[in-house]
This record gives sequence, structure tokens and C-alpha cells, in this order.
Amino acid sequence: MVKQLWLFSGGEKPKKETNMKIGKFLSMTAAAAMVVTTAYAGTSKMDFAKVYEKECQGCHGPIHQGGVGSDLRPKVLKKKNTDMMAETILNGRPGTAMPSWKHMFSKDDAYGMIDWLMNWKNTMELKLSLDDIKKKLEKTCRS
Ligand code: HEC
Repeated sequence: MVKQLWLFSGGEKPKKETNMKIGKFLSMTAAAAMVVTTAYAGTSKMDFAKVYEKECQGCHGPIHQGGVGSDLRPKVLKKKNTDMMAETILNGRPGTAMPSWKHMFSKDDAYGMIDWLMNWKNTMELKLSLDDIKKKLEKTCRS
């Protein structure tokens, strides 16, 4: 793939300017394709929000802040190892309350769940802060 593109874009003497343009376009497309494949490319069909609400929030909290379970908010998870966390979902963590979910989660589901958790946005806090903004605006408008 890369070699072929090299023929187009870097070739000894490009015969026509259009060849170079195509080459440039192709290498850009290749770069874009590479970026896409490094993102989560699993096949999990799990409804993560639903499963979380039913199975996980009892311990990890409705806004993922933790409780019995650990804090699972993105800023915390981003510092941790993805493989280790997926492993924790699958096998649980012996000696802690974290159970194994092997009966319910495939490996793909576990990685998908971590991905979902890492990209989760707290709409509850967002709503609160929007309310705050509204209050502040009302105050300033009145005075
Ligand atoms: C009975 C309580 C309980 C339930 C239910 C539970 N967990 Fe946990 N979970 C824990 C505890 C406790 C820990 C922390 C273990 C430790 O101290 O290392 C943990 C740790 C984790 C970790 C590792 C976090 C880290 O910091 O390394 C992940 C990921 C996780 N849980 C995901 C889930 C998911 C997804 C579900 C639902 C499918 C779930 N948990 C359900 C108690 C629970």
C-alpha cells in the first residue's frame, strides 16, 4: 500500500501534475484511514449505557463517581491501562467487591465498555452548570 502510493507521490519524475495530485490525495486518504483504525474498532453490540445503569452503577455510582466501586470517570480512567481495566471487567478483581462479568461480557464488550466510559460525558453536571449560568444571567439582567 505505502509502496504503491510512493510511486504516485514521490516517483522519480512525475509525468503529469495530475499524477502528483492523485498521489497526494491517496496518501491523505491512507493517513485518514489509519487514524480511524487506531480508534476503537470492536464489534460489540452492547448497549453500554443500559448495562452500566443496570449492572454497574450500584457500585460505581450514577455519575460514575465511585462508591463501593472505584471512580470510573474519564479523567481517572485516562491515566490507567486499558488492557488492565478490560481484564478487570472480565475477571473481576480478587479480594475486592469487583465481580467477574465473563458470563455477560465478551472481550470486545469489555473493551467497548472501557471506551464508552472514557468518552462518557456527565450530562447531569452539565445541566447543573447551565442552570447556574441561567441564574447568573437573570441576576445581571435584573441589576
Ligand atoms: C459489587 C460492586 C461492583 C459492581 C456491581 C461493579 N464493580 Fe467495578 N469495581 C468494584 C470495585 C470495588 C472496584 C475496585 C477494585 C480495586 O480496588 O482495585 C472496581 C473496579 C472496576 C474497574 C477498574 C477500575 C480501575 O481503577 O482500575 C472497572 C473498569 C470496573 N470496575 C468496571 C465495572 C463495570 C463495567 C461494571 C458493570 C458491568 C462493574 N464494574 C460493576 C465494584 C463493583
